[in-house]
Amino acid sequence: MIRNASMEDVAMLAAIEEASFSGDRVSRRSFRHLLSQGNSVTLIDAAAGEIRGYLTLLFRANTTRARVYTIATAAAWKGRGVAAGLVRAAEQAALARGCTALYLEIRKDNVASIGLFTNNSYRVFGEYEEYYEDGMDAWRMEKLFPRPTA
Ligand SMILES: CC(C)(COP(=O)(O)OP(=O)(O)OC[C@H]1O[C@@H](n2cnc3c(N)ncnc32)[C@H](O)[C@@H]1OP(=O)(O)O)[C@@H](O)C(=O)NCCC(=O)NCCS
Repeated sequence: MIRNASMEDVAMLAAIEEASFSGDRVSRRSFRHLLSQGNSVTLIDAAAGEIRGYLTLLFRANTTRARVYTIATAAAWKGRGVAAGLVRAAEQAALARGCTALYLEIRKDNVASIGLFTNNSYRVFGEYEEYYEDGMDAWRMEKLFPRPTA
């Protein structure tokens, strides 16, 4: 089941984030900040009180492009379609807010994430050199939503 995260989820979100990334993590404080603001949405896949995965979207004024800020699946649930479901739900949430595209940065050595987003029709549109704390470069990937037919 995919639902919007609440403050009660912050400890678990931060724990999965901590286990999923070796650097450039979203802190517990940042999750709290994100959840208290109207310009982001954190979707979680939860069942029986367990968070299987989550995805945070950021919205900015003056642009209809939303950013996938973080996404992770808990170790026990990897490879079972959790992230794919979250990406689909994020696209629906972005469309519902009038967005025309999603974009994100991905470490060039993140094979799983590049596979996930490529499989979901995201395409590389640029790169950032030495984007991450450890000096790794990032691909910039995006998906433009089809225009609604009149
Ligand atoms: C990337 C990540 C979110 C994928 O989560 P997941 O729930 O295991 O992914 P899914 O089971 O939904 O897989 C969807 C697609 O992703 C790709 N994928 C997932 N794991 C993969 C792997 N280890 N190697 C290659 N491709 C992979 C595949 O294309 C897969 O589709 P398929 O099963 O039809 O082949 C997960 O590995 C993770 O949490 N990684 C650590 C955090 C991270 O790197 N986040 C991304 C930051 S940009």
